[in-house]
Amino acid sequence: MIGSYPNTRLRRARAHAWSRAMHRETALTPADLIWPLFVTSGRGIEEPIGSLPGVSRWSVDGIVARTREAIDLGIPCIALFPNTPSDQRSEDGAAAYDPDNLMCRAIKAVRDACGSDIGILTDVALDPYTSHGQDGLLDGQGYVTNDDTVAVLVDQALNQAEAGADIVAPSDMMDGRVRAIRMALEMGGHANVQIMSYAAKYASAFYGPFRDAVGSGGLLKGDKKSYQMDPANGDEALREVALDIAEGADSVMVKPGLAYLDIIWRVKERFDIPVFAYQVSGEYALIEAGVAAGVGDRDALVMEKLIAFKRAGCTGVLTYYAAHAARLLHG
Ligand code: PBG
Repeated sequence: MIGSYPNTRLRRARAHAWSRAMHRETALTPADLIWPLFVTSGRGIEEPIGSLPGVSRWSVDGIVARTREAIDLGIPCIALFPNTPSDQRSEDGAAAYDPDNLMCRAIKAVRDACGSDIGILTDVALDPYTSHGQDGLLDGQGYVTNDDTVAVLVDQALNQAEAGADIVAPSDMMDGRVRAIRMALEMGGHANVQIMSYAAKYASAFYGPFRDAVGSGGLLKGDKKSYQMDPANGDEALREVALDIAEGADSVMVKPGLAYLDIIWRVKERFDIPVFAYQVSGEYALIEAGVAAGVGDRDALVMEKLIAFKRAGCTGVLTYYAAHAARLLHG
């Protein structure tokens, strides 16, 4: 029911800052933010990523420093992605389940330094470890196999859980991997390790800078369309989410973010499960390019996009702007 002008003037509520604050429907807080961080080898190393201006890879000591910063800012969780040295990448991605890989060293260092003051989310997929840059194992024809890949993903997830990961996040889009990982975690003594499933992950043109960051971009031949979703599909995303819930996901993710707000909204309306969005590397890079081109003010652009995720129904957002946005939120 809505009144009519002039009895009803919606501008009355907008006239003053206090009134706008009082009527605001959605809030963004640092607790809504998950900060993706890229790990590199060595000590005391910071490597700026050309296609992600303002984002760097950090050696493990730097990751610990960034994590302390996140805790101080009230960010509840970090997400780690390794740039595996090229001599440790292989056809079968075996470094993914090496208990001494870069990822495990970073997880342990953060755990040692920060205890359980912050959550550690880890990506489950083989692309940072394979010599071909695909997320799974290839058959003779270059097709990414499903069931053989799932077996390796289970080993990878267990490896991360054993190192101390709190949330394993399969980003590979294989069928049946959530169930297989859940069973293995239960049987392996990791009942409290959560699964945040990249349930609706699209074969997107927005991942380019990420692939530079983890060093898989130059290796990748072809595309990921035989496992990641077609951007034209929405109903299928709901089927993906339904399956992952049935298989034991604790939360689900939609990725990329802004081009898929309708998917976030539909998932939120349909299912009782926390839904997260990943504002991916290309989304970040486009904002930075826009700022450099004078399109608008960075802080305003960033905050408007982040609040859109909350308005669409997100529980939280993975964003390279997490620390920046948290600082803005603290004033
Ligand atoms: C890989 C993975 C990708 C991202 C997160 N995990 C890239 C891909 O699927 O090729 C993208 C994140 C980003 O672009 O910021 N499994």
